[in-house]
Amino acid sequence: MKTLFLFTVLSLSLWSLEAIPPLPQSVSYNVKKALLGKELFFDTALSKDYSVACVTCHNIYDGGADRRVVSTGFAGKKGNIQSPTVLNAVFNFRQFWNGRARDLYEQAKGPLENPVEHNMTPKLVVERVGKNPHYREAFESLYKNGVTYKNVIDAIVEFEKTLITPNSKFDLFLKGKTKLTQKEMHGYTLFKRYGCISCHNGINMGGNSFAKIGMFFSYPYKKEYPDRYAITHDPLDKNVFKVPTLRNIALTPPYFHDGSRATLQEAIKAMAHYNLGQEMPKEDIEDITDFLKTLTGELPRNLDAR
Ligand code: HEC
Ligand code: HEC
Repeated sequence: MKTLFLFTVLSLSLWSLEAIPPLPQSVSYNVKKALLGKELFFDTALSKDYSVACVTCHNIYDGGADRRVVSTGFAGKKGNIQSPTVLNAVFNFRQFWNGRARDLYEQAKGPLENPVEHNMTPKLVVERVGKNPHYREAFESLYKNGVTYKNVIDAIVEFEKTLITPNSKFDLFLKGKTKLTQKEMHGYTLFKRYGCISCHNGINMGGNSFAKIGMFFSYPYKKEYPDRYAITHDPLDKNVFKVPTLRNIALTPPYFHDGSRATLQEAIKAMAHYNLGQEMPKEDIEDITDFLKTLTGELPRNLDAR
């Protein structure tokens, strides 16, 4: 009996390790460039009217996203989609809800040049950064060609690489270093049994595929949301988005691309309905909520000094 139990536990945890590996403790990055990138990430000089910085819509000390339904950017203009988290974004297979940027380098140009976000041009970025003697000196010592648009983006991305959140309770559980409570464990079992894991898997529990919201029941469609359809113009791609990461999900309400669900419970209920065709009982929603709360990792501390 005991052997059978051990065997079951072992095979189950091996299987889950395969589907969801724990986050690494760190990824390699250049510390000096990352520190410079951190300053830029917090600097409103990177927006045309000095009103927003990356951190305005990506609060890295509070989940890396924005608690507003849509962010407000340049001149108080509203964006058109909910801000996703930058935490662990380095592990996403593409960036943006519809994956239009291949990686973080391509992504960073988006907000800088977006008229309702930073509203800058590459030339203006170089001008603003270059007229600050502290930045000029730092870029000249770290990059052969000093302040260029490409180097500004490189420094920001170097900082983004540090934004990973290891040691969540779930990761410690995966490594056999801690136990989940009965409810959390049951929530994890339900997460697999209902099939949430078929989309939310891999190192980020998402971030590695595209899927439709509304597989079973159609979800309201609005053309202002940049989905896959906006790129491919294939009608089947309406409401298809990158499956979002569930890491630190308890810290990043409101949920969905339209920010329409204020709580985790509402988001789980909607997911079960729209994407699995099931009306989930309240107790199951509660246990999955408890499980999802174990996905909150340690906030990045390696670059604490600002
Ligand atoms: C005005 C708010 C705002 C500002 C300022 C802003 N962002 Fe964003 N960010 C967003 C929104 C909204 C999205 C989603 C856009 C989309 O997918 O179409 C996003 C997406 C991202 C993503 C993709 C995450 C993912 O999972 O796909 C990254 C990375 C990111 N931003 C980094 C940055 C950086 C770096 C800066 C500063 C240069 C910045 N953002 C400035 C609102 C903002
Ligand atoms: C068919 C693939 C698929 C399945 C199955 C699925 N999801 Fe999702 N999930 C998505 C997609 C795509 C989104 C983004 C939807 C949107 O924003 O419109 C999402 C969004 C979410 C969000 C909100 C994330 C955020 O940052 O806004 C949560 C929470 C979530 N899913 C949990 C679950 C749970 C729990 C289950 C199982 C009951 C589940 N999902 C099943 C694809 C899936």
